[in-house]
Amino acid sequence: MPEEIKAGCAPSECGTKSACSGCSSNPNATIQKDPPKVKKVIGIISGKGGVGKSLVSGELSVMFRRLGLRVGIMDADITGPSIPHMFGVHEKAYGNDTKLFPVRTTNDIKLMSINLMLETDDTPVIWRGPVIAGVVKQFWEDVDWGELDCMVIDMPPGTGDVPLTVFQSIPLDGVIIVTTPQDLVGMIVRKAVNMANMMNIPVLGLVENMAYAVCPDCGRQIEIFGNSNIQSLAAEFSLPVLARLPINPKAAELCDHGQIEKVVDPQMEDAAKFLASSLELI
Ligand SMILES: Nc1ncnc2c1ncn2[C@@H]1O[C@H](COP(=O)(O)OP(=O)(O)OP(=O)(O)O)[C@@H](O)[C@H]1O
Ligand SMILES: [Mg+2]
Repeated sequence: MPEEIKAGCAPSECGTKSACSGCSSNPNATIQKDPPKVKKVIGIISGKGGVGKSLVSGELSVMFRRLGLRVGIMDADITGPSIPHMFGVHEKAYGNDTKLFPVRTTNDIKLMSINLMLETDDTPVIWRGPVIAGVVKQFWEDVDWGELDCMVIDMPPGTGDVPLTVFQSIPLDGVIIVTTPQDLVGMIVRKAVNMANMMNIPVLGLVENMAYAVCPDCGRQIEIFGNSNIQSLAAEFSLPVLARLPINPKAAELCDHGQIEKVVDPQMEDAAKFLASSLELI
């Protein structure tokens, strides 16, 4: 087999034969990559940090899984990854010459995050934008996701390098915009909707997080951040409100303890059913 090049060829031969073009040992090779077999890809975005994107990404993945779907979750927040912690995943991902393998959560959700590759969970990622964007691209192209019904992508906040890379290099079927009920939210949601429109990505709906607190004594809903304007925002863009989530100390505690798969959240359950049905996954 004189033309077949394998890892272990003499270094002097590397890149000299026609078969070298597909060899992972050849730094100049263009390896033919099959796109992941994922039926639907959903990005969770917001123009603002700390509004609950990761919580919504995690809960939505859990609810999809409870519907019996094969689910993957990609943590595209490279500098602030929080998905592995929520799922109590601390082991490292492994890989071979050409592929990286996602880690499986307790309930068999496939998970990939930069934290599965760092030496310790608190090692900081101090990389420039293009390098970070390259990692996200690799999470799509070089991870062996197997066959999935849906993939949820937890995005970093804003409209910077990473969301742009995801929008341009991953075939998103839609995005969900997460907001909290505060004054600036109108502008922030509009920016996110406009970015999705400019990139021709459908917006699947809005989630208003921390919309209210429930009084533990009388059960009354208290809108601590002021009156919600989510319905009028949704009407402005003809979008569904997928959920108005209360401040939920139990959910936050489960996330902190790596047990998001135990969360009970009827609203997210309904949102997952609605999405799965409108995306024809069930
Ligand atoms: N509805 C809620 N009730 C109680 N705590 C919440 C709720 N939503 C989010 N939290 C908590 O608020 C914190 C921020 O949430 P989360 O990490 O999901 O936000 P994020 O938008 O992903 O933030 P970042 O922009 O930094 O990625 C977390 O500790 C989370 O557990
Ligand atoms: Mg986050």
